[in-house]
Amino acid sequence: MTVKIIIGTQWGDEGKGKVVDYYAEEADYVVRFQGGNNAGHTIHIDNEVYKLHVIPSGVIQGKTGVIGNGVVIDPEVLIDEINKLRERGIKPRLMISDRANVIMPYHKILDGVEEEQRGGRKIGTTKRGIGPCYSDHAARLGVRICDLINKKRLQEKLDIIIPIKQRILDAYNIKHDLDKKEILEAYTRYGEKLAPYITETHIILQEALRKKKNIILEGAQGTMLDVDYGTYPYTTSSHTIAGGACIGSGIPPRSIDEVIGVVKAYTTRVGEGPLPTELKDNTGKHLQEKGHEYGTTTNRPRRCGWLDLVVVRYACNLSGVNSIALTKIDVLTGLPRVKICVSYNLNGKKLMYPPASINDMEDVKPVYKELPGWGSINPDAKRLDELPGNAKKYIAFIERELKTPIKLVSTGPKRSQTIRV
Ligand code: GDP
Ligand code: IMO
Ligand code: MG
Repeated sequence: MTVKIIIGTQWGDEGKGKVVDYYAEEADYVVRFQGGNNAGHTIHIDNEVYKLHVIPSGVIQGKTGVIGNGVVIDPEVLIDEINKLRERGIKPRLMISDRANVIMPYHKILDGVEEEQRGGRKIGTTKRGIGPCYSDHAARLGVRICDLINKKRLQEKLDIIIPIKQRILDAYNIKHDLDKKEILEAYTRYGEKLAPYITETHIILQEALRKKKNIILEGAQGTMLDVDYGTYPYTTSSHTIAGGACIGSGIPPRSIDEVIGVVKAYTTRVGEGPLPTELKDNTGKHLQEKGHEYGTTTNRPRRCGWLDLVVVRYACNLSGVNSIALTKIDVLTGLPRVKICVSYNLNGKKLMYPPASINDMEDVKPVYKELPGWGSINPDAKRLDELPGNAKKYIAFIERELKTPIKLVSTGPKRSQTIRV
């Protein structure tokens, strides 16, 4: 039995979907523990491409997907995602925590409004209502999945919540009347559709632990988007680091065997906020074009830059990463020289970890190690020694700097384009 947490070590989109799908072959359960449909996880198998937002990536392998209590669920999006998979012949085996919070219509409206209010300091959210939903969770104003399957209780909750939300919308001068009856009817219908999947997922997972099942906890977003450890306030609203996996699933910390950190061979970021190694030149364009760096959820172009080991070092320490899955090494192919950021310089001071203050993070200058590039890579290589010498040097440098073994190298988007080291 193993319980593995797989998390993103950068700003999201590291290739977690591909890595989770790869390891899911050995799993019984794949569990999402935070985030919501702000995530976009892409899986390529042969010529089929799947883009998942809330459903755990393991369902593509036919494994049971669990949406844990730490996830925020937009039921309309989830139902649509289930239907789309069914249309493609995949009948997802799914369980949804009765404790997960529900994204409501006013969350989506407020996500947009709050962004507008920030003026020049927008976060660049996905506008899926994620931040407002997590805020209500903490404020104890949340609607939970268990509320959707009891109309009377849902009505009682909405009787309290809707007037509060209406006053907030009015204060923002938003001309939108929240129709309590309409919301009650719609969300009751969603509850009816989701009812077969709703259960006490934490109890089922704890039973699975006793039965020595293999479990993968699939992270969304990345360490630098963690609400505490990321580039706050340019973060998402959940705990993306390994610590979040226990809270968001009900699996106790002592049951975790392994933490795998997914590292993209360079850096990308969608939305606003500092990105110290950002490249606004032709190399940045190379990474964006060759890596197809456009958001899976919002289709926004991703900002690109060199690999930042200050960030990855921090992520490995925060999550206790045992091994690294290195993705998209093929995208660097063709660059004459490649750079890796090993530390920051902040007004003459050397930093090995990202600073807390967003103003300091905006001011840091990356210190680079430069390495020679490589001309071509066999995307179907099955062993590390089939890779060009300079690519191997790049990989070895990362391992040395992070003092963490790289146990998986991904050389293309497909499941088959994976080297297990
Ligand atoms: P996630 O959010 O971490 O799951 O990552 P995304 O799916 O949003 O973005 C990663 C993108 O890179 C997807 O389109 C993947 O299909 C693709 N991808 C994953 N691994 C590799 C790789 O090794 N090489 C290339 N070229 N593409 C990859
Ligand atoms: P996956 O799981 C990349 C970013 C948004 C924005 C910030 C806050 O595919 O790696 P939110 O809507 O969460 O309030 O937006 O976080 N963001 C992501 N960036 N990958 C993601 O998910 C992201 N989910 C949110 O662009 O900057
Ligand atoms: Mg993504």
